[in-house]
Formats: sequence, C-alpha cells, structure tokens
Amino acid sequence: MCSVDADVTKTSPVSVTSKLPDVGVSIFAVMTRLANEHGAINLSQGFPDFDCDPALVDAVAVAMRQGHNQYAPMPGVLPLREAIASKVHTCYGATYDPQTEVQIVSGATAGLYATLTAFVHPGDEVILFEPCYDSYVPVIRLSGGTPVFVSLRYPEYRVDWDEVRRAITPRTKAILVNTPHNPTGTMWTADDITALTALVDGSDILLIGDEVYEHIVFDGRRHESLLRYPALRERACVISSFGKTFHTTGWKVGYCVAPQPILAEVQRVHQFMTFTVHTPSQWAFAEFAARDPLAEKLAPFYQQKRDLFLDLIEGSRFRPLACEGTYFQLLDYSAIARDHSDTDMAMRLIIEHGVASIPCSAFLYKDTGGPVLRFCFAKKEETLRAAAERLRQV
Ligand SMILES: Cc1ncc(COP(=O)(O)O)c(C=O)c1O
Repeated sequence: MCSVDADVTKTSPVSVTSKLPDVGVSIFAVMTRLANEHGAINLSQGFPDFDCDPALVDAVAVAMRQGHNQYAPMPGVLPLREAIASKVHTCYGATYDPQTEVQIVSGATAGLYATLTAFVHPGDEVILFEPCYDSYVPVIRLSGGTPVFVSLRYPEYRVDWDEVRRAITPRTKAILVNTPHNPTGTMWTADDITALTALVDGSDILLIGDEVYEHIVFDGRRHESLLRYPALRERACVISSFGKTFHTTGWKVGYCVAPQPILAEVQRVHQFMTFTVHTPSQWAFAEFAARDPLAEKLAPFYQQKRDLFLDLIEGSRFRPLACEGTYFQLLDYSAIARDHSDTDMAMRLIIEHGVASIPCSAFLYKDTGGPVLRFCFAKKEETLRAAAERLRQV
C-alpha cells in the first residue's frame, strides 16, 4: 500500500517562482473538509449525490470488452462527434462538421483551458462576468492575459451592457459568457444576446461560451446558446460537459464546438494537453447522446428538485433569489446575520448547523458581492429534506 507523505515542511533545492502566487487551496476543498470534520450535509460542491444511469456504466463496460481500450483519435471518436453535431443542430439549428468542428475534451475545464491558452497572448484582455467560475482567471493569467471584470450585481445579477461597452478596448481578445450561470443561477435573455451582438459586430473578438448547464433550465425558459445566432457562432467556441447532462461529473468528458479555423487552434493545444479522452466513455456517450432523451428530461428533473428545496426551506429565515437554471440556489442570509461576511456565514452554517454551502465571494475578484450563499440541489430527496430541516433552525 502506498502512503502519502503529509510532511509539508519539507524543503527542496528547487527555486519555486509560482505562476499562480495568489491561488491557494480552493474554497470547495476547504468547505468539503470542514463539512466532513463536522458531519455536515454537503450542499457545497456541484455534483449529484445520486448515481448515473446504470445502463451508461454498462455501455462503458461493453466498450471496454469490445476492445475500445487504446487511444481514441485526437478529436474524439467519430460517432460521438457526429452525435454532438446532430444534437447542436437539433437544439440550436447550428451546423458543424463532425470531422473538423467538434472536439472531445476532458471535461469543460480542459475545453476552457485549451481555448483560452490557444487564443490569449501576453497583454491580451479577456472580459469576464463576475462572480465567475473559478478556472477562468488562473488560465488567463497563465497565458499572460489580463482578466477584465464586469460585475453582475446582487441581487439581480444582470449584465450591465454599458459596463461591458466600457470594458472593451483594442486589447480585448475574448468575452467569456457563462449561461446558465454558476453561481447565480441566472440565464441570459434574448436582449442580452442582442446587446452582445451589437457590441462585437465589426470586431475580431472571440466569444467563449461556457454552456455546461445548457439543459438545466427552468420555468419554460429558453437557453440562449451562442450557437443559435449565426452572427455570434461564427466567432464562438462553445463548451459543454457530459458530466452535468448525464450525472457523471467524475468521468470528465465534455466537448468544444467552433468553426474550423477556431477549433483548429484549440486542437493545437489540446493535442499536447491530454491528446485524447478516455476511449470507452466516449463510446458509451456516443450511444447515449444519440438515443437517450436525458437532455430533454433534465430540466423537469432538476426543476422538481429546485422546487422541493424551495418548498422545504419555506418558513426559514433564508430568502431565495431567483434560480432560472443550473443546479445552484442562492440564499440570502441578511435576515439572519447581516454583518457576517459570506465566508463567516458559510463556516458558521457548517460548524453550528451542519450544512455546507459555498460563499459567493469565492467567485469574485473585484466586487464584494451580497449576503448570499450557494447551495447545490443536485441531491437526493432525503439529502435535501435533511439539509432543509437544519436550515429552518437557523
Ligand atoms: C460554469 C462551469 N464551467 C465549467 C465546469 C467544469 O465542468 P467539467 O467538470 O466538465 O470540467 C463547471 C463545473 O462545475 C462549471 O460549473
């Protein structure tokens, strides 16, 4: 058995000049550790506590037995790329060539890494809407780029398009759009798309669409994918994740779609990151993505969970903010402890009440954010019931 040497005081003759000096242990790891220490119910990290379809697991096993155990082609197995091209055509009316315009990646994180690394040169600026997912900023910085933040402000978290206009400079290389949005649960509207279209028209700005929650949308809302709009998709690389759609976050399989000249650059980087993605999983997803209607069932499935969670916390002193999509619910705690920072409140919730959440400041760089915590409701009914019971006591 191997053991991990926990001696963090060890020295090394290597001189370490960190490329990411500001990056420490992530808040997700901190909250999960605290949750474990205090036996708290963990609604912090964004993954289901229920299993994926066993037939999907069987499909991976079948692929393994059939001998799909060696490197897949660099862009991914063709039937999976074909299934993705067909899906984006059905969902968004966009036509992509599965041979040259679809890339399978090791989760959306790798797709984001490859895309940003391929396009961001030292001195380039990338416009981000904060709060934002935690991988964007470090990757931009690793490429020598500068993140330029536009704030989505508590409690509505809508885009201020004048602020975006002011943020665009001759150095703007890309605008990174995440809708449905983690952590706020907001979704872009057709008006947002119109505003973005007007702003990028005539420029050479790349759009990067992080659309991992594309199928988790509520109350009949339409996901405004960049892929729906010819004037946007011609300049966009859109990234999604099977982890969110098929309850398989641990498999780390996702994809990028983009016009060939853009995707070719993403592929230049991807081939030296992972080169290819776990082959049997790709075959399994190829089968499921082509025939399984899970994507269609996902919205009602998670809407039921969101509504259950909201019903269960009724009568508590937490105030839910609007959750239009994703599997995250923001709860406003200002009626409980207005003077607490969100990190203090999240700690208190774990230690005194046994529920783990994520403070929204973990997704912020510039703004101070509001008195809100993020709760993941991709959980079994009994988990949500137990957590809500504790939240009602706060
Ligand atoms: C907005 C957003 N983008 C990207 C990812 C990463 O997805 P993956 O696990 O497929 O790398 C996540 C995962 O939580 C996310 O919330």
